[in-house]
Parts: sequence; C-alpha cells; structure tokens
Amino acid sequence: MVTIPISASTPYDVVLDNQDRWIDSVDWSRYSMLWVVTDKHVESLYGESFRSTLKLTHPHVVSSVVEAGDASKSLSQLEQLVAEGLRHGCDRETLIVAFGGGMIGDLAGFLASVYMRGVPYIQVPTTILAHDSAVGGKVAVNHPLAKNAIGSFYQPSGVYYNVTRLNTLSVQEVRSGLGELLKHAYLSRYVLESSFEDDLFLDLNENEPLDWVSWLARGIRVKQAIVETDEREQGIRAWLNFGHTFGHALESVEAYRIPHGEAVLHGMVFAFLVSGDEVRAMRLFDWMRSNDVTPIDWQPFDRYVEKMIRDKKNRHGAIRFVLLRETITVESVQLEHLQQTFEQMKGWWER
Ligand SMILES: NC(=O)c1ccc[n+]([C@@H]2O[C@H](COP(=O)([O-])OP(=O)(O)OC[C@H]3O[C@@H](n4cnc5c(N)ncnc54)[C@H](O)[C@@H]3O)[C@@H](O)[C@H]2O)c1
Repeated sequence: MVTIPISASTPYDVVLDNQDRWIDSVDWSRYSMLWVVTDKHVESLYGESFRSTLKLTHPHVVSSVVEAGDASKSLSQLEQLVAEGLRHGCDRETLIVAFGGGMIGDLAGFLASVYMRGVPYIQVPTTILAHDSAVGGKVAVNHPLAKNAIGSFYQPSGVYYNVTRLNTLSVQEVRSGLGELLKHAYLSRYVLESSFEDDLFLDLNENEPLDWVSWLARGIRVKQAIVETDEREQGIRAWLNFGHTFGHALESVEAYRIPHGEAVLHGMVFAFLVSGDEVRAMRLFDWMRSNDVTPIDWQPFDRYVEKMIRDKKNRHGAIRFVLLRETITVESVQLEHLQQTFEQMKGWWER
C-alpha cells in the first residue's frame, strides 16, 4: 500500500493498494449518508460488491448510475443527479463517492461542488487514466461547444485506488491510461529528483503486466509536485497540458472516437516534433505502433487548426504548445511550422 499526502487548500490522501483497506481509515460517522455515483459499465462489474462493502461501514448507502461515456458529463445529467439526490434525501452531510473512471470523477466531483452549495466527496478511481484526473481537484462537465467548459476547482476528501479493478479494463483503455502515465514520465525530468522516462519504457517493453501500485504512485508524484505549486492553474499547472494542444484537437475532429489518453499520445509525438526532438518523438511513435494505438483518420490540416485555435492556453490568437527542451516552455508556434510538423507525422504513420 502506498499513501501520498497531497497538500492543497484542503489536504487529502491518495491511497493505492491491491485491496480496499482504505475503508478502515475513513471516519464514516461524519457523514449522514453515502451517495455512490457510477456508470453502467462499472456498476455491472463492481457495483453490488462495492456497495455491500460500504454497507458494512455505513447503514445508509444510496446510488446513482449513469450511462458510460463522456456524453454523461453534461449539464442535463447533472440536473438529473441533483433530482436523484433530493429524492434520496441527500443532505449537506452526505458524502458523494465517485466510483469509476475520469468521466465519473469529473461529473460526481462537479456535482459535489454545487449540490447544496457543496458537499464532501471522495474518488474511488477504476481506470488507469484516473490517476491523473482524480488528483488535483479539477472537476467539470462538458458543454456542446467545448469539453470541460463548465467546471470548478474542488478538492476531494480522499482518493482511494484498489488496483485489482484495473484488470477488467479493455486493451484500449489501458493504452489510454498509459498515455497520461507517459506524459507524467516525460514531465518527471523537470519536477522530480530524477526522471522515470527510461524505466517506464523498459518496463513497458518487458511485456509483463505493470505493477500498478508503484507506477501510478510515480505518475501521481509528478502531478502532486505540480498541483501543490499551482493549485488553480496560474502558472506551471499548464505543463500538464503537454500533448494536449494537438491531442484535444484530434479528439474533437474525430468526435471522440479516439479515447483521451490515446489522443494525448499522438499529441505528445506532435509536440516533440514541434520542438525538434525527433529522437523522443520516434521512440514514442515506435511504442505506439507496436502497441496498436488507434491510428488517426487523417483530415485536412485546417480541421485541426480550427480546433487548436480554441485551446485555452492561446494568447492573442496565437496557437501555443507546451514544449519540453532543457526547460519547459509554453510557446506560440507559427502555422507554417505546425503544418510541416503535421505532414511529417502523417508521413511516419503512412510509411
Ligand atoms: N479532471 C482532470 O484533471 C482530468 C484529467 C484528465 C482527464 N479528465 C477526464 O477524464 C475522462 C476520461 O477518463 P477515463 O479514460 O477514465 O474515461 P471513462 O471514465 O469514460 O472510462 C472509460 C471506459 O472504461 C470503463 N471502465 C471504467 N472502469 C473500468 C474497469 N475497472 N473495468 C472495465 N471498464 C471500466 C468505463 O465504463 C468507460 O466505458 C474525460 O472526461 C477527461 O476529460 C479529467
């Protein structure tokens, strides 16, 4: 078991384990009831057993189950959940338990931030990708015009992983989660005492299942170092956006056919090429190719530009990228250079 204490405006622990021992560390008597929010897929796999375990610690457990997929991260879903909470009798002492991947963490976390002007919540993540989304307190729902457009910063009271639940993830969801873990590996060089980029590639190439407790802990330590310095994204928290300028554009152009973490993988190859680092771009590309990462359905360059222009890092209409060289910079990049990079990357995939 690994415990990582996060120092934030309201501090909390992240616990990673091969079982649910965390349950014994929570003071459940503080809460009038527990309101588990999950999606249909996670419900079918783990809902009943998870609620039975919770019922051993608290007499009053209710639940809400939404459709799986990012379409549930919406204002209309939020309104339905508020109605369910009111019908269940959830009050201001209710603890919301976000039980699922990043979609559920964002939705239930945002619900917690607005339900009766704010109730406590914990994250019980069930995906690899959620080692990123569950830590740092960014919660949101999507607007039809933009992802995560309606949201807030609202810290959880705890983040509790039982990594045995990751065994049922599809191969595509594992790759997607690895996208954010690789991003943390690249950033580790700048925020931790030493980089774990090479170690992660070594382990990934071993073809053995990763030791998730230790690898997710390493990823979370990178996120910890960044969000503890910049909780509300006034500065270096933007570094976590590495790979996301092209990645978000790709997700949007492909109407979310490519899962978030895989889009970030493509986006990181793009960003390395923008910064002229062909060596790291090629190592990542080779890994992606040999692991069957979902290929891009290439569209004209302008379609991606239309989306990149809306990126929230942009200033004065210029498209900005997080670039990793000796130091990390957030830089405006000329369209011409972006187009050359786009053609180069497309050429690699078409070889
Ligand atoms: N708040 C943040 O800082 C932050 C950071 C990164 C991503 N995000 C958000 O996270 C979301 C993506 O997260 P995600 O990739 O976890 O997606 P997700 O929650 O949609 O889960 C992906 C799929 O895996 C299924 N699933 C979940 N746990 C499972 C398990 N143990 N076994 C089998 N299937 C399981 C889900 O039902 C779903 O179909 C996006 O909405 C993204 O915007 C937020």
